[in-house]
Amino acid sequence: MMRREFLGVATGIVGTANVQFGERSITSSPPPTVRDWRAAFPALSQRIEGHPLAYLDTAATSLRPQPVIDAVAKFYSTDNANPAAALHTLARRANAAVEGARASVASFIGASDPLEVTFTRGTTDGLNLVASAWGDANVHAGDEILIGMAEHASNMLPWRYLARRSGARLVYFDVDDGGRPRIDDLVSKLSARTRIVAFSHVSNVLGMINPVREMCTTVRGPGRIVVIDGAQSVPHVPVNVQDLGCDFMAFSSHKMCGPMGVGVLWGRRELLEAMPPYQTGSNMAHDVGLDALHLSAGALKFGAGTPNASGPVGLAAAMAFLRGIGFDALAAHEQAINRRMLVRLARIPQVRLLGSAEPQHRVSVFSFAVKDRTPLDVMRTMDAQGIAIRAGDLASLPLLQRFGENAVARASCYLYTTEEEIDRFADTLEQLIAS
Ligand SMILES: Cc1ncc(COP(=O)(O)O)c(C=O)c1O
Repeated sequence: MMRREFLGVATGIVGTANVQFGERSITSSPPPTVRDWRAAFPALSQRIEGHPLAYLDTAATSLRPQPVIDAVAKFYSTDNANPAAALHTLARRANAAVEGARASVASFIGASDPLEVTFTRGTTDGLNLVASAWGDANVHAGDEILIGMAEHASNMLPWRYLARRSGARLVYFDVDDGGRPRIDDLVSKLSARTRIVAFSHVSNVLGMINPVREMCTTVRGPGRIVVIDGAQSVPHVPVNVQDLGCDFMAFSSHKMCGPMGVGVLWGRRELLEAMPPYQTGSNMAHDVGLDALHLSAGALKFGAGTPNASGPVGLAAAMAFLRGIGFDALAAHEQAINRRMLVRLARIPQVRLLGSAEPQHRVSVFSFAVKDRTPLDVMRTMDAQGIAIRAGDLASLPLLQRFGENAVARASCYLYTTEEEIDRFADTLEQLIAS
């Protein structure tokens, strides 16, 4: 895509539907750069404490570009209606918008059928859906649920509660001292009673990309499902759910430039059909009489009540935006950010980075502890300089404790992060340590 075209798309001057993956430039215009990408994010034009905002908190939630904000505003300005395929014009438009978004998501993640795409409130909601709907029907006393000890609380507690409800045993597999999943431990903890295996694709603490394809191949088996937490991977790396070989994958719109309050649970169609509904009410069934009903097909069975229609519309716009940038360009940019960050952090002996210090096979997420400074001190010092980072247990206390920490600071970057921002961040860290 040419630079001028990207700016047009990014600022909403041309429709997002024009964004094409892999489109070739036919003139000598320079390709879009991070400066062009940044121009699409209105939040970046503000100052915090007199400093330009450096937003290094994307792993918690990303910023949103103008086309996403416009898509949501357009839905409410024009298509606003409770979606229905065969009613009035606005209802049909709203329905087409949601179903169009479902098809966009299916194509973005390589699903074979849009009806494998359930819109949820986010990753947490999607994982709870699997634990409740599939888990309650298929996991019994004496069964086992195998998950990583490194998981985010949202990929731990739904399984813990399922184990408690069903009488199943929750088993954890370990990571090595570098934070990589220990495949030997995963294999040794697998048993004939294992019904569910769940792990994350990318750690929200370490940023490391786990070998999930290999892990899925290793653990697949009859009567067992494999669930991937894609909250930190889908925003950063191309994901093809069929190629990965999992049964379910959950992710959130708000970490990939889309609106908050919407996410996706992808599941194999045959599993969705065999599962009972999660919540019940309108829209997930038809011909509902006093004693009878017909459940809706595939993912539609999990959409009880009036949907969050603007959410999927905004998510589809976010996916179009990311496609316009392209995952190759995004990966090249994140590699440059990774190199700069790792070089700068390595120069500060008081900083302890958790996990790999290699720029490859990771996204731009960096959790660290600073000698004699609390993570809250680090966060406050950064905030006073207009630099947004996160501090705390990152909803991953067991993993932090595996590294001997109870809390850390985390800087997490994305397509709008510049190398200058990384330098500002590292300079501020050095000044704090020197003070
Ligand atoms: C790895 C991981 N899993 C799950 C979640 C939960 O996502 P959400 O809060 O959008 O439901 C997060 C959020 O930080 C995450 O990083």
